Amino acid sequence: MATDYELKYTPGPTYDEMEDPSRLPQAVRQAALEARKNELDPLNLFNITWRNAANKPRYVVLPKELTGTRANIIVLTACSFPSGSHKVGPAYATMAEAEALGKVTHDMTIIGPSTGNFGIGTAYIARLKGFRSIVVMPEGMSAERYERIRKYGGDLILTPGSESDVILVLERVVEFKHDPTKLVLGQFELLPNYRFHRYTTGRAALEAAAAVGNGKVAAFVSAPGSAGTIAAADEIKSRFPDTTVVAVEPKECSTLTNGGMGTHRIEGIGDKMVTLIHNVLNTDYVLAVHDDDTVKGLYVFHELGAEGLGELVGAKLGSERPEEDLCYACNCSKEAFDFYRKCFGISSICNIMGAIRTAHFLDLGEDDNVVTIATDGFDRYPSVMRDLEQRVGRPIDRSLMAHWFEQIFRNWEPTDFLDVRGREQKERLFRMKEQTWLRFEYTKEYLDKMKSQAFWDEEYSLIPKMNEAIAELRERSRTWPPVH
Ligand SMILES: Cc1ncc(COP(=O)(O)O)c(C=O)c1O
Repeated sequence: MATDYELKYTPGPTYDEMEDPSRLPQAVRQAALEARKNELDPLNLFNITWRNAANKPRYVVLPKELTGTRANIIVLTACSFPSGSHKVGPAYATMAEAEALGKVTHDMTIIGPSTGNFGIGTAYIARLKGFRSIVVMPEGMSAERYERIRKYGGDLILTPGSESDVILVLERVVEFKHDPTKLVLGQFELLPNYRFHRYTTGRAALEAAAAVGNGKVAAFVSAPGSAGTIAAADEIKSRFPDTTVVAVEPKECSTLTNGGMGTHRIEGIGDKMVTLIHNVLNTDYVLAVHDDDTVKGLYVFHELGAEGLGELVGAKLGSERPEEDLCYACNCSKEAFDFYRKCFGISSICNIMGAIRTAHFLDLGEDDNVVTIATDGFDRYPSVMRDLEQRVGRPIDRSLMAHWFEQIFRNWEPTDFLDVRGREQKERLFRMKEQTWLRFEYTKEYLDKMKSQAFWDEEYSLIPKMNEAIAELRERSRTWPPVH
């Protein structure tokens, strides 16, 4: 007999199906692709994947005229995920595991502690699955983030401060953890976030790189917020142990570099802490970049447009048109440049700056690949661009943009990289993790276990069990398959 929960259950994918949606029943995959026209159709849960209709990971290889590097800079682009960012993945995975393990009832409210995109993902998943949601986030984030959460029916609790004041979000959420009417999707501390990224983002990165240069990953660059995305490094290192992993952070809030705790403008990253789910063992270097350079970099990409940017970097724009929804490989077409304009947000520019600097720092050659991430697209940032115009206080003309481009994408200092491979640096990062998380009901014993790679590998090895639990819940419900 199906329970009341199972009768009303809205089915979604297993981890295996997110990693490779061709494993879905064909009718479900087809219907999900059709459902992309209506983002509130619950079938879109089956579109939570890096892969396009042709089952290839979505990525671009930036033209070398643009990067100024010898190495290939590969950017996985997440703007095609439902809700516009890959942060919907960990939100879904955390909810799906809780449902499959019998921890959810229909009268619960779903809580998303966030700086924006995870909150957008939480409100979106809750809406598709028929739950109320509350997103707890700082008050100083872009207006577009709040609008989207409200559009998905999410309520907001705003805590003081901006991006770097996430600790106040964590404090606000503590009371909800003990409330049986609430389900907290704790991205900074719960391991579905780690599992989702190690598996799906890690494999997407490997597959994208397999088709470029020497097919390997020389470096993986990710600016951590919750540090979910950087879990992909564990999967990449299990294949290429010599991959160099770089975590990028704002100089204005250089927490991983030297405990710095200032405010900054790179929305989504740099949260003034070592998050619980950050496997610091996999991080080799921390690179600090100026926060406003990422904002100006996005401005340049967006305002110059394809022709302007092409002219600036001396790239002759070709007219080749990739098939719809396919990947752009070292493509200098106008379409490709327009795509960058649409599918990069502020932290994407931060990651691209990090990838370019890493390619120079490691002195990588023509066949080498650096993989990085564009977590969200421009749609979240028009208000931030207008704010930049006001702050600059004079017309931002082409010559100023050309100057910014040079400064942001061509200049770098080796001293901005901190080597955190040694024992002492790891101990420092472990201590920082303790400082935050002992306050939030985690024991020293649990935190000590995280100092060993075995902890992370064991968490990762739970994926088959979670796949099974999600599939079993689907089988018991009357709502699976959603189409025949
Ligand atoms: C725009 C943006 N970039 C980067 C990140 C960092 O990703 P992660 O939380 O997986 O470290 C986030 C996280 O919210 C984000 O919203």
